[in-house]
Amino acid sequence: KAKVTILGIETSCDDTGCAVVDDTGKILGESLYSQNDIHIRYGGVNPLIAYELHRNNIELAVNKAIQSSNLKISNIDAIAVTTKPGMLINLQVGVKYAKYLARKFHKPLIPIHHMEAHALVTRMYQTIAFPFIVLLISGGHCLLAVAKDVDEFLLLGEGLDNAPGEIMDKVARRLKLKNVTEYSLMPGGKAIEVAARKALNPEQFKFPLPLARYRDCNFSFSGLKDSVFRSLTKKESEHGTIGDEIVPEVNDLCAAFQLAVAEHIAHRTERALIFCEKEDLISSHNRTIIVSGGVACNDTIFQSIELIGKKMGYRVYRPPSRLCTDNGVMIAWNGIEKFRKQIDIFSDIDLSDVTPIAP
Ligand code: KG4
Ligand code: ZN
Repeated sequence: KAKVTILGIETSCDDTGCAVVDDTGKILGESLYSQNDIHIRYGGVNPLIAYELHRNNIELAVNKAIQSSNLKISNIDAIAVTTKPGMLINLQVGVKYAKYLARKFHKPLIPIHHMEAHALVTRMYQTIAFPFIVLLISGGHCLLAVAKDVDEFLLLGEGLDNAPGEIMDKVARRLKLKNVTEYSLMPGGKAIEVAARKALNPEQFKFPLPLARYRDCNFSFSGLKDSVFRSLTKKESEHGTIGDEIVPEVNDLCAAFQLAVAEHIAHRTERALIFCEKEDLISSHNRTIIVSGGVACNDTIFQSIELIGKKMGYRVYRPPSRLCTDNGVMIAWNGIEKFRKQIDIFSDIDLSDVTPIAP
């Protein structure tokens, strides 16, 4: 039977997400004000627009999550809120509102690290013991880590330049996929995934594996993006394409590009598994990889991780799509995990502890 209920608030990027979650892992109430459609029109996240929308939506989002839970804020045990990393002014919208609620209702506050929340949310509905491997791939982040405990993470590798979702969004924009009605409202990565399914001859495009000779676990996607742009420019000049025309090879290009992203991520993950084996970081009877972040929604990319997992004896999980992308549920759940262990529970959060970057 549930004993603890927590309100979670997420505003680090472009989604205003709130949720009420209990310690059995049940989502009691939930709300998500996504700015995706708006930013697609502007071609990427516009921080000032995101800020205005967070400010307009934060109260609505909290009220909706509370109302749908059939609880009152006075019955909730604590308020968990993302304090790092993310866009500073956006983080502050969530933290200021959480502080206001905490004062008004005399509730403790639990600061949450956005990446840790992505990493832990799978434990909400599945028994996954520490330590396990985490692969976070999204529009804003790219990292491999060992989750050793609720508040203990070892970073194995990270993106040296662009995040995978970011380059998928850039390539989708360069390919003008949003001119195709079917893709017009999809995030870039999703549009590429759907287009790639229609490929007939993806082998006509070949992209080199980034960092192929490096033995660490870091990622680099910017060279891949440049190669795709170059291939496209070549095709456009062959066809004499002007303006918003789409080259006929677009599906093949999407498939080849998606495969290259998948292979790079799988290759770096394999490096991480080899490192963990060598350093004895993961016990042999509990080998798990959790993949999360918006790009984890991609089936081709996920399957390439599953393949590496199978080869190395790891179970590979990802949360359902709506919990892979940014959401309030993962923040509330991380609050539950911290509350259970009585860590990071404060009567107030200083705004100077809210930071865009964090280890
Ligand atoms: O986690 P998320 O909602 O936000 C952050 O970036 O933190 O991830 C959004 C990213 C976008 O770049 C989007 O293009 C990508 O996730 N994405 C996908 C798919 N669905 C969303 N990328 C590849 N395949 C998908 N199916
Ligand atoms: Zn995220």
